Amino acid sequence: MITKKMAKALNEQIKNEIFSSYLYLSMSAWSSTQGLKGFANWFYIQSKEEMVHAIKFYHYVLDQGEPVELHEIPKPEKDFKNPVKVFEEVLKHEQFITKSIYGLVDLALEEKDHATNAFLQWFVTEQVEEEANVNSILDQLKLTKSDGNGIFMIDKELATRTFVLPAGVTI
Ligand code: FEO
Repeated sequence: MITKKMAKALNEQIKNEIFSSYLYLSMSAWSSTQGLKGFANWFYIQSKEEMVHAIKFYHYVLDQGEPVELHEIPKPEKDFKNPVKVFEEVLKHEQFITKSIYGLVDLALEEKDHATNAFLQWFVTEQVEEEANVNSILDQLKLTKSDGNGIFMIDKELATRTFVLPAGVTI
């Protein structure tokens, strides 16, 4: 059992996660048009992972006997300027998502909602990993100082990312 207030906040997070998926799909499309196939691959997989996050929240709300309410998804940006700028946008967005997850944890603690708190801990850990990955890519990109060879090498590395469905998740 969860409160109506918690259900509303979780439904809001479904929107945030689907928007993340939408934003990364837009970044993938932008990368493709720049000839950055590896970047495009990385963002495409990131977009799929975000949809998995949304689906995790979706099932949790339903499992708790509350209705899922899907919100309107804002239109994402489509011009990301250059490889450093696009990953700066990713970091900014993931920091926003981390804050939103922390807000949900705060609410769960306030409501002594142990089930939701336990559910959210997966996301708390996931956000640490996401921010670390993005910071690491951003550091490498800044080191290249927009040198073509450096970008080419990073693009090759980003092309190797593959999609792995998290354990216990069915979509
Ligand atoms: Fe679902 Fe990238 O946070």
